[in-house]
Amino acid sequence: MCGIVGYIGREEAAPILLYGLERLEYRGYDSAGIAVYDKGKLNVAKAVGKLKNLCELTDNGAKVSGCIGIGHTRWATHGQPSTDNSHPHLSGSGKIAIVHNGIVENYMKIREMLLSEGFTFKSETDTEVAVQLIEYYYKGNLLEAVSKAVDKIEGSYAFGVISSDHPDELIAVRKESPLIVAYGETGNFIASDITAVLKYTRNVAYLEDGDIAVVKKDGVKFYNSYLKEIQREKAYIDWDVEDAQREGYQHFMLKEIYEQPKVVKNTLSAHIKDGRIDLSDTLLTPEYCREIKRISIIGCGSAYHVGVVGKYLLEKYTRIPTEAVLASEFRYTDPIIDNHTLVIVISQSGETADTRAALREAKSLGARTLAIVNVVGSSIAKEADSVIYTLAGPEIAVATTKAYSAQLAVMYLITTALSSTLGLISAAEYDEVLAEMLRIPGKIETVLSDREQLQHLASMYFNNSSIFFIGRNLDYAISLEGSLKLKEISYIHSEAYAGGELKHGTISLIEPETLVVAVATCEKLFDKIISNVKEVKAREANVLCITQNKSFNAASAVTDNVFTIPNTHEMLTPSLAAIPLQLFAYYVALDRGCDIDKPRNLAKSVTVE
Ligand code: F6R
Repeated sequence: MCGIVGYIGREEAAPILLYGLERLEYRGYDSAGIAVYDKGKLNVAKAVGKLKNLCELTDNGAKVSGCIGIGHTRWATHGQPSTDNSHPHLSGSGKIAIVHNGIVENYMKIREMLLSEGFTFKSETDTEVAVQLIEYYYKGNLLEAVSKAVDKIEGSYAFGVISSDHPDELIAVRKESPLIVAYGETGNFIASDITAVLKYTRNVAYLEDGDIAVVKKDGVKFYNSYLKEIQREKAYIDWDVEDAQREGYQHFMLKEIYEQPKVVKNTLSAHIKDGRIDLSDTLLTPEYCREIKRISIIGCGSAYHVGVVGKYLLEKYTRIPTEAVLASEFRYTDPIIDNHTLVIVISQSGETADTRAALREAKSLGARTLAIVNVVGSSIAKEADSVIYTLAGPEIAVATTKAYSAQLAVMYLITTALSSTLGLISAAEYDEVLAEMLRIPGKIETVLSDREQLQHLASMYFNNSSIFFIGRNLDYAISLEGSLKLKEISYIHSEAYAGGELKHGTISLIEPETLVVAVATCEKLFDKIISNVKEVKAREANVLCITQNKSFNAASAVTDNVFTIPNTHEMLTPSLAAIPLQLFAYYVALDRGCDIDKPRNLAKSVTVE
C-alpha cells in the first residue's frame, strides 16, 4: 500500500525522502514522487514505475533542493499509475502539496462541490480532491484549513501536507491509516512506518485516529480534531537497523526465512519463565480462561492460516469450540459473539483494514479481544483489549515468513497455557510440550541446513503450470500456507486442499506430471493422506511428500520425492513443515526470475478494505 515520508530540518530533504521511500518500497507501489519547498516555491518530481526512475529524474535528490519535503510511493486505487495520478498533488494555486495513504470515500461529492466553486483537477485521484478542499478552506492558517478539510472527508487517510506559505511546518493527520512522527537530531519526520526513518532515529510517537501533528524542525505539537493541544507519548523502537537491511542475502525473503530460529526463540522466551508459560500480562488470567465458551480467530492471508492451525490446536487441547474466520468475511456474517467469546486477531502489520474492522465489530458485540501483532504501537495493538507481540522484528519481504512462524509460536503458548489452566493436559505432557517447544528453533536450523535439497526440487518443478498442496488437519493448515507462498511469489497457479476433499471435484485437474505436494506430518493421519497420494499417483501426478524423519521409508515407497523434517511433538509440526514450503516457493520463484521481495499487485500492509 502507499507509503509516506516527510522531513523538516537542517539537512537537504530530497535524499532523506528518497531513502525513506526506498525503505517503504516493500509495501508495494507503482509510482513515486516528492515535493520539496525552496525559495518560496514547492518543487515536485514524480515518476511511474520503480523508485530508481525518480532517483534518476532528480539525480538522487540533488536537483530538488530544500530542507522541508514530503514523499510518497503510490499503490493505485483511483486511476491508473501515471505521473498525473501519482503523489504529491498540488492545490490549484500550487501553494499546498499533499501525500495520502487511504481512500477518500466521498471524493465524488466533494469534487462536484469544488467544481461548482470553480476548482479544476489534473488527476483522477481522490487525493487531489483533498488538497483542493484544504485550499478551499485556507485563509492563511494551514492547520485550520487541514482540520476543516478532514472534518468533511469520509474514509481512511494519513495525510502529509506542506505549504509554500508555511515553510516552517509540516502537517500530519490520520484516520485509520498508519502514520508516525519521528524525532531526529537534525530535524523531525513523518512516515507510514518506522522502517523509513530507522536510520536516523528510534524515537517516535504514533498518531491516533483524528490526531493532527504540526511538525517543525525543533519540535512537534499534537492536536485533536477540535484543535485542542494534546500530548502523545514518545516510544523508543529497539528494532535493529541491520534487521531492516539485507545483509548479503539475495532477498529479504531469504534473510527472513533464515531469521526464523531467532524470532521463534525470542517470541517463546518472552513468555516462558521458570519452566512455565507466563501470559499473566495478557487478559488470559486463569479466572478469565475458565469463562471462555467460544473462540474466534480472525486474520487475513497467512495470519488467517495461523488461525486455522489455532482452530485445530485449541479444539483438541482445550475442547473450546473454536473457529478461524477471514477478517474480510467476519463483519458481514452476523457473527455469533458475546461476552464469553474470546476473539484472537492476528496481524503482522497491525494495520490491516479488514482485521481492524473485524476487531472493532467483535468489541462492539461484547467479546474480549486479544491481538497477536508484530508492530509495536500499531492500530490493532492499541485497540485490542490485550496484546501478545511476536518478536519478529521488521519484516520487509511482502510474503510473510518469520512473522508467520512467530505467530505459530504464540499459538502454541496460548494453547498449552489454556489447556493447562483448564486441567486438560497432564503435568508430564505439559513439560514435554514445553521442552519440545524450546527445541523448535534448533530443529528449524536443521531444516534450513537442507536448503540445497529444496533448491534441487525447485529446479525440477519450477516450470509446472499448476501445483497442488494436500494435507489433513494441521497439515491442511500448512498446505494452505505453502500454496499461498508459492502462488504469491512465483505466480504459479496453486490450490490447497484437505486430502479427503480432493476427490470431490478438484482431482479432475490432476494430469500426468502435475505436482502434488503432500504434507504428511500428522502421524495419526499418515495412512489417510497416503491414500490420497495414491489417488493422484493413479492419475500419474508427481508427488513431493513433506513428512517427519520417522516416516521417511513409508513415504518414499509411494511418492516421487520426500523431504523430511525432524521428529517433533504432534502439536508443533507446523513450525517445521512450513520451512521447506517457504524455501521451495522461494527457489521456484528464483528459477522463474520473479521479483521475490515485491511480487506484482501485492502490498505488504493492506490498509484499505
Ligand atoms: C502472505 C501475506 C499476507 C498477509 C496478510 C495479512 O505472505 O503476507 O497474506 O499475511 O495480508 O497481513 P497482516 O498480518 O499484516 O495483517
